[in-house]
Amino acid sequence: MSRAPATVALETRPLEWPEAARKQVEEALTHYPNRRSAVLPALWIAQRTWGWIPPEALRLVARTVELPEPEVFGIATFYTMFNLQPVGRHHLQLCLTVSCSLVGADRLYEHLRRRLGIGHGETTPDGRFTLRKVECLAACGNGPCMQVNEDYYENLDEAAVDRILEKLT
Ligand code: FES
Repeated sequence: MSRAPATVALETRPLEWPEAARKQVEEALTHYPNRRSAVLPALWIAQRTWGWIPPEALRLVARTVELPEPEVFGIATFYTMFNLQPVGRHHLQLCLTVSCSLVGADRLYEHLRRRLGIGHGETTPDGRFTLRKVECLAACGNGPCMQVNEDYYENLDEAAVDRILEKLT
């Protein structure tokens, strides 16, 4: 006998800022002449709060700064620093633009790929690392360079990359 499919309860309550994040958003809003101008700090706070920016958080930012959701989506997708997919605890962003490429960034990318067993945009099964190739990180004079979460590492070679990975638990 066939059974009717189970009803799936849909979460209809919109996401809210946790108290600490709400205070940060309120503080950020005081720096701007209107709420919409605070969209970038609000996106940063969302990313720091949830580790990435899920669709519910994009909607929360839109409500908070009083911008249409598609506009907030457009802003969040324009800047590669915003993670619209979950990332590992350590988000490795290796610059592969020309200046860094000329001094060995491609070799380092292969090194990271082999060592971590993941490619561009992928996360290790233990959730520790996400690897991403990115465009210029504005440290062209000191390439190859890599951003790990909010820290910059410059003048890298394979040994330096290995030392960085070992420190990141
Ligand atoms: Fe790599 Fe600019 S080219 S930081």
